[in-house]
Amino acid sequence: MSETASGPIRFLLNGEERSVSGVAPTTTVLQYLRRQERLTGTKEGCAEGDCGACTVLLAEPDGTGGIRRRAVNACIQFLPAMNGRAIETVEHLGRDGVHPLQQAMVEKHASQCGFCTPGFVMQLYAGWLTGAITDRQSVKDLVAGNLCRCTGYGPIVDAGLELAALPVPDTQFEDIALAAKLSDMEGAGIFAYEAAGGRWFSPTDVDALADTYAAHPDAVLVAGATDVGLWVTKLHRDLPVMIDVSKVRDLMMVEERQDKVYLGAAVTHRVARDVLAGIHPDLGEMLRRFAGAQIRNAGTVGGNIANGSPIGDLPPCLIALGGRIFMRRGDDIRVVALEDFFLEYGRQDRAKGEFVAAVEVPRLRDNQRFFAHKISKRFDSDISAVMAAFCLSFEGAGEGAVVSEARLAFGGMAGIPKRAAKAEAALVGRPFDAAAVADAMAAMAGDFTPLSDMRASDAYRLKTAQNLLKRFQLEQAGAVTQRIASWGLADTPEVA
Ligand code: FAD
Ligand code: FES
Ligand code: FES
Repeated sequence: MSETASGPIRFLLNGEERSVSGVAPTTTVLQYLRRQERLTGTKEGCAEGDCGACTVLLAEPDGTGGIRRRAVNACIQFLPAMNGRAIETVEHLGRDGVHPLQQAMVEKHASQCGFCTPGFVMQLYAGWLTGAITDRQSVKDLVAGNLCRCTGYGPIVDAGLELAALPVPDTQFEDIALAAKLSDMEGAGIFAYEAAGGRWFSPTDVDALADTYAAHPDAVLVAGATDVGLWVTKLHRDLPVMIDVSKVRDLMMVEERQDKVYLGAAVTHRVARDVLAGIHPDLGEMLRRFAGAQIRNAGTVGGNIANGSPIGDLPPCLIALGGRIFMRRGDDIRVVALEDFFLEYGRQDRAKGEFVAAVEVPRLRDNQRFFAHKISKRFDSDISAVMAAFCLSFEGAGEGAVVSEARLAFGGMAGIPKRAAKAEAALVGRPFDAAAVADAMAAMAGDFTPLSDMRASDAYRLKTAQNLLKRFQLEQAGAVTQRIASWGLADTPEVA
């Protein structure tokens, strides 16, 4: 195992060095900022990653000598994960006088009570610095994870849009120096930190992760902390040993081949979106609607799979495509079809000390057609009621084409992400037409006994799942050419 560097946590805060010890590893960045630093510009609205009031800007080495910047929710980020990173808060934005964005917020009347304002400002600032502000829709997408209850979004979006015309500062040379400084602060080998009865490890390569996890098989792995953060802030769980996978370089790899792509488990949804959209635009659209931008900047592909949630958005999509995951435990590596990973609610095919290393996603072949759609109560930044992903393979051409393989995968329909085996069987060997789909829709009732909960009733879920298949068929037949921009519970198409 590579050498272990033991705490303190070293990072930059608004350009100044910090070296912190003695605080519990489960201390959130937000708690630290407000309680220890008295930087109270960063607000707490929900403490669960939903409202964006706590948004701060993170900078870290990008592995190529430069800097990667992203906005995250400070309320669910753990402080030890900041080792070797730089945090910028809203207080720093105005260091040289009022920032043009702050000025625009004033001029456009974009703030009333002001509680949400620092979060909006930091989110828009991060979007501007990373070149993400191009048009009105880009600003709307950026602030989908920021909630304002007073002003309405129009003036805030107007203020953000002002940044489109403002040149982004060129920090290329400063970034080289910053990356070197942060790497130096991060230290070599595994970063280990211990305080208040808790332990934290941040390995930076996959062998070190495997060794550390083998030595501490009861540890909780933390990637983007968009689930684990809530175990602490909402469930008040004790997490005595945590292993951070967000700094493991090998798990951040993206490899694009002609027939498939590989995504390391620590690839964030922000990065995965561009890659998966290249497989099919529906995947890009699904990831646009996956949480808000701050969560996508932190949450990972591996976390979305390993948490075993029945309503995770990626698993049905990856199952429909025939995805496989690479699992590692010590030196042993095994490959599992993703659909076999989910055993039953809360139980996955993962041994103690075993972690998800990567996911393999096949690209679509010429004879395949794909469809994915997320149904949620709110269009933006909401968890799915139903997530549907379909992949059909055809043999033959034109009117004689018949379905040779059907993969219909759903989230929200069972205790695990699950394929609709009976509905699939009703499609195979037949043309993908109204009659086959009617039979498949009827058969689907035998595939699932969905739950009723605050997101949707069982009847609604089943009807929606059936109708999404119908929708796919109508799109393939050319009967429907346009997607309704904002399907929600209220306006899901009723296709009899
Ligand atoms: P973490 O919180 O770090 O970890 C999650 C679980 O996975 C933990 O059990 C952890 O131990 C385990 N784990 C992490 N990495 C590995 C690994 N490599 N190997 C083995 N185990 C591992 N999800 C959706 O699907 N769609 C949404 O629209 C959505 N919206 C959200 C909105 C909000 C406000 C929040 C807070 C969450 C939302 N989520 C959503 C859930 C969450 O963001 C995702 O599931 C995310 O992908 C989790 O990834 P993470 O890296 O943050 O995981
Ligand atoms: Fe609401 Fe952090 S306080 S997202
Ligand atoms: Fe009050 Fe946004 S100005 S919540």
